[in-house]
Amino acid sequence: MDMQDQAIRRVAEAIMESGSVCVLTGAGISTESGIPDFRSPGTGIWERVDPMEALSTAVLYNNPRKFYSTGFEIIMSMQDARPNRAHHVLARFEKEGLIDAVITQNIDNLHHRAGSEKVLEVHGDTRTGYCIKCGKRVSIRLLADKVGSGQIPPVCEECGGILRPGVVLFGDMLPDCFNEAWDLVKRCDLLLVIGSSLNVGPVNNLASLCRRLMIVNIGVTPYDGLAEIIIRDKAGQVLDSLQRAIEERSAR
Ligand code: APR
Repeated sequence: MDMQDQAIRRVAEAIMESGSVCVLTGAGISTESGIPDFRSPGTGIWERVDPMEALSTAVLYNNPRKFYSTGFEIIMSMQDARPNRAHHVLARFEKEGLIDAVITQNIDNLHHRAGSEKVLEVHGDTRTGYCIKCGKRVSIRLLADKVGSGQIPPVCEECGGILRPGVVLFGDMLPDCFNEAWDLVKRCDLLLVIGSSLNVGPVNNLASLCRRLMIVNIGVTPYDGLAEIIIRDKAGQVLDSLQRAIEERSAR
């Protein structure tokens, strides 16, 4: 059995023996669904777009035309993506009671589409938008239709305020579900990080909160020193192997 197989087996054992398991996912779990991540060398979105120029509150409020031509395109580019096997395995692990929740930094909605139910979207979502003046929530489709018809910035039909997408932009506060995620990770026995460079706070702090940390990620992260096990391989095949290892162990 090679090193990776041993590591997979140890992660499988840790998941099965832990009373509570949380999973933290990042953009790396969705690259196999065709969505580029942000920081992979050569392909990451931030290699060709300045995040502060694309997805920040400063640009949204001071230069909405720029926001709705660059950042909004990134947001809308994920609408038709499909979950990959990593998302489906996590949904199955939840149904089998092996994991308690998925905390995701992703706004691509793929955990929901794969059937996961307890999903904490700590960077918001691309299903909705809202008016910054009256707070009225709208579907992202309505926002996209307004932008598509040239209404930039899109305005609220109730009060005339500016409409914005429900994603967390650089400069935004995190949604309440981050506090829930914090409490969940503090109480859980094992945090499994999948596909995140753990570069962005405060979400990356979750990796230092938990009793046991294991990481599935191609690139290095600042929290590697805290991880009991690191598997530097593609999330899809690692999650497939994890599922098989758990099935084999359960069959004994
Ligand atoms: N399998 C495993 N790991 C992968 C895969 C894959 N198929 N593809 C990419 N990775 C790894 C990369 O090596 C990288 O370390 O996933 C990580 C993705 O890191 P980032 O691109 O930094 O994405 P993420 O950690 O989710 O970024 C956090 O930053 O820009 C903000 O709001 C944005 O939510 C995002 C946050």
